[in-house]
Amino acid sequence: MEQHDSFQLAKYSALTWNAPLSEHHASSLLKHLDLANATRIVDLGCGWGELLLRAAFEAGPSSQAIGVDTDPVVLARENATPKTAGWGASSDTRAMLEHLATVVPKGKVLIGDTCWERSPTEAAVAIFGEEIPRLSDVVVFSRQAGWKVMHVSTADTREWDDFESGHRAGPRGWLLENQGDPRAPDIEAEQNRREDEYQTVYRGVLSFAYLVLAR
Ligand SMILES: C[S@@+](CC[C@H](N)C(=O)[O-])C[C@H]1O[C@@H](n2cnc3c(N)ncnc32)[C@H](O)[C@@H]1O
Repeated sequence: MEQHDSFQLAKYSALTWNAPLSEHHASSLLKHLDLANATRIVDLGCGWGELLLRAAFEAGPSSQAIGVDTDPVVLARENATPKTAGWGASSDTRAMLEHLATVVPKGKVLIGDTCWERSPTEAAVAIFGEEIPRLSDVVVFSRQAGWKVMHVSTADTREWDDFESGHRAGPRGWLLENQGDPRAPDIEAEQNRREDEYQTVYRGVLSFAYLVLAR
């Protein structure tokens, strides 16, 4: 496994998963996936594989679980077993849903995708780009790609606050332990900048949609 320095490893250390997702919400999504009879579970963009491991537990010991991610840092987290690879993911939601339909001709999928909770300001579009859809668009694109929409939910503000705080807490814990590191001032400034951006630009504006889809 590739070696990473202590800062890279600390980056995600305060997060359970790399998404705005509470324990309760995660359990509910797994319930909607109805994994009791699943024989194979594939997680595309699995991070360090926490949700995949829980899905595999629900499916039982005879199921096969495969995780794929492109980021070697998330794969370096302790206990992570997924493989480094890309799968042609697209930042375009419609293209992703159409591509997913070719990968899963029959079965259930859970997708997680950023979307606007309310009309974005220019500052929010400048950060996240023009291609972020509204939740209603994600639902329509799903149907147009031939999926049956089985369940729709979004991350709430508490889940976003926990997620954003978790992204700060790992680096800030590292800063407390490594105050003399030459990178510390830049890391501190970057954490403060990102925190301010969340608080002033996209808190309550950007959402994260979870859709359980079937075909
Ligand atoms: C929002 S994170 C979610 C991670 C994980 N599902 C979780 O809940 O912790 C998205 C993940 O997708 C991965 N990713 C992005 N593009 C990818 C691609 N083309 N192929 C595989 N993984 C990709 C990123 O590296 C990141 O770990």
